[in-house]
Amino acid sequence: MDHFQYRDGELCAEEVSLTALANEHGTPAYVYSRATLERHWRAFDEALAGRPHLVCYAVKANANLGVLNLLARLGSGFDIVSGGELERVLEAGGDPHRVVFSGVGKSDAEIRRALEVGIRCFNVESAGELERIAGHAREMGVDAPVSLRVNPDVDAGTHPYIATGLAENKFGIPVEEAEALYHRAAELEGITVTGVDCHIGSQLTDTAPFVAALERVLALVDRLARAGITVDHLDIGGGLGIRYADEAPPEPAQYAAALDDVLAGRDLELLVEPGRAIAGNAGVLLTRVEYLKPGRRNFAIVDAAMNDLLRPALYGAWQAIEPVRPRGGAEIATWDIVGPVCETGDFLGRDRPLALAEGDLLAVRSAGAYGFAMASNYNTRPRPPELMVDGEAVHVVRQREHIADLYRGEHLIP
Ligand code: LLP
Repeated sequence: MDHFQYRDGELCAEEVSLTALANEHGTPAYVYSRATLERHWRAFDEALAGRPHLVCYAVKANANLGVLNLLARLGSGFDIVSGGELERVLEAGGDPHRVVFSGVGKSDAEIRRALEVGIRCFNVESAGELERIAGHAREMGVDAPVSLRVNPDVDAGTHPYIATGLAENKFGIPVEEAEALYHRAAELEGITVTGVDCHIGSQLTDTAPFVAALERVLALVDRLARAGITVDHLDIGGGLGIRYADEAPPEPAQYAAALDDVLAGRDLELLVEPGRAIAGNAGVLLTRVEYLKPGRRNFAIVDAAMNDLLRPALYGAWQAIEPVRPRGGAEIATWDIVGPVCETGDFLGRDRPLALAEGDLLAVRSAGAYGFAMASNYNTRPRPPELMVDGEAVHVVRQREHIADLYRGEHLIP
């Protein structure tokens, strides 16, 4: 459930009308709901309450400092994939001891910084990375806590660009090679084996692939235990889907129950790395109709574009587009909602039945995850502000960029 509802014929974020937000802060703008973010984080935390666990929010979904800070205050852990994300977590008041570091290409500087601040665990994705982390840890006189990210070769049944747990994907260590690498890790000076990790993909709408991956990972845990290598945690990644259209993904409680069935009798700490399921439906992209261009296809040209929200252009993703103030009784036509960017792929939605007039406000729903986080300055377009609604209060958690911001650091040659 989220806190974006119609009230008196007008779409609101918590207690604030989106029209008021647009008038005050302009469009396009990202609007987040604090209550929704917190509710979604707590849904995971409560679902896992029956066992030791840590919810490590996947920072990549929405890395705004205001968002990270709210979750840090709840006691969240964080899944990071870069040194930049680590600095954001620290800046937002996150606890480095609750940070897990995923990603296939960790650099020397990133590894050293993570060791320096004492992160909870490196999710190691290759033999080369394991050796490199060990070398840095020895040089720095510390021990690096590691999990190996195993690739369980499970089909997540999701878009090919966001499936990560198949043998053909670049992620993780093939499950059949992981055992040997664990033996190497266990004997490497500078390394402490603490867990096993996997992440099979994103926007999963069924528990079966999670269960299949977990079973394969547990079989590995048992083989390791027989060889005298014990782990204290299991990280099963993120990936729980959300409702964009008519999907019916499991609730966190159903997801946790499915995992619990497989984990019965084991006292491993469980780490999860949800991103989309926490932030996705906690945000909308607010945009205004600039021009209507009816014709063979009807185009509604809005002031947000693919640079602001890339998912429709990149994945053909469908996100609901709702009028902020529906025009009751007005004639409905079928519109392609497109932006000003000079690409045919620049659309936010196609074939949408809407009654529209120039100047109308629209809300692109489910934009809290992988929205601003994937925004760019293509076409020299300043990125939108990010607004956090908290009851009746509105906080600008990121100001709108100015055009001069976009060429700061560029120089003419003499
Ligand atoms: N952990 C790892 C190691 C990941 O790679 C990801 C996402 C997550 C956790 C969080 O997954 P989530 O719970 O959000 O599904 N840009 C794409 C999604 C890419 C996801 C990449 N990895 C999109 O807009 O659909």
